[in-house]
Amino acid sequence: MEGPYRDLGSGFARLTGPEGARRGPSPITHVEDALLEFLRNARDAGAVRIFVASTLTARRFRTLTVIDDGQGIPEPYAALVFEPGVTTRHLVPIADPTAPTGSHHGGGLALYHIKQAAVSAEVLSPSAPTALRATFDTRTLPERTLQSASRHSNSNLLATVQSFAHPRKQPPAPDIYYGPPAKILAVLLKNHIIQTSESGEELQRVALGVGLDLSVRTAQRVLGGGVTPAEAITVGGANGGIGASRSGRSAGSGGAVLPVGEKERAEIAAILSRVARAGYMEVDDLRVESRPGEILLRARVYEPEEVYE
Ligand SMILES: Nc1ncnc2c1ncn2[C@@H]1O[C@H](COP(=O)(O)OP(=O)(O)OP(=O)(O)O)[C@@H](O)[C@H]1O
Ligand SMILES: [Mg+2]
Repeated sequence: MEGPYRDLGSGFARLTGPEGARRGPSPITHVEDALLEFLRNARDAGAVRIFVASTLTARRFRTLTVIDDGQGIPEPYAALVFEPGVTTRHLVPIADPTAPTGSHHGGGLALYHIKQAAVSAEVLSPSAPTALRATFDTRTLPERTLQSASRHSNSNLLATVQSFAHPRKQPPAPDIYYGPPAKILAVLLKNHIIQTSESGEELQRVALGVGLDLSVRTAQRVLGGGVTPAEAITVGGANGGIGASRSGRSAGSGGAVLPVGEKERAEIAAILSRVARAGYMEVDDLRVESRPGEILLRARVYEPEEVYE
């Protein structure tokens, strides 16, 4: 069919002419914009679950791997989706209540703009699951910062995932998991998105196939159950990766006891997690103990090893 697009088959087309609109300024001005576009694409592909692995290397290079269980990209088209104007939304543009006005939704440009802004961007696996990965130099494509007195920039990626996971308007979004590669690998295994393998070497190879770059040692830790799987982003804003609580046990008499509920504990965990990330650290195993006259908070603080692998 002739018109403002060229039919590429299997539902794909390349938009041409003014539809291409590729000379306009890129709407990808921050890493969070790229993450949002990856999430939208996964949702539009009918994903029920989306898994986002995030690493920061050399305090500078952000790698996002976005894995979803949606319908996938037909094999021959995986190489084309980063080209300008290539889309499956030319006939039925997606109505997106969460999209900013004036956005280019349905123009087949988001992945193209991501690739322009990235150091590298690729489709790792076209389907079952679908996996796309991009690495950004945060000196050229910055991350939005949260209000913080900390030294380093404080990534807002988790907040982006949280607001996407819980839009104010319907319809409900897919379940989204966010965390370092090891925790994402653990949750992929748990949900049978990838198959359990016998050895660390084999699991490392399978993980690499969906864009998760881990050491054999880490793969072995995941296999052995030594890594807590990422949890789905919850309404309270708590991130997966915060362990189980042990709360509200009184240790004697003499003083008021302040009970801390699950919701509050999750909020404290979210705050600690945010503060830790400002210094490129993670917090795990939060314990909140209410004692007469005092509250004890204890948590494990560590630097995610993926940064150094
Ligand atoms: N996770 C995914 N699963 C299945 N198909 C995908 C996925 N991500 C991208 N695609 C395919 O790649 C095409 C190009 O994606 P891209 O985001 O660049 O453009 P678009 O979504 O069509 O429009 P927009 O520019 O508004 O995002 C999509 O139309 C879709 O067919
Ligand atoms: Mg898109």
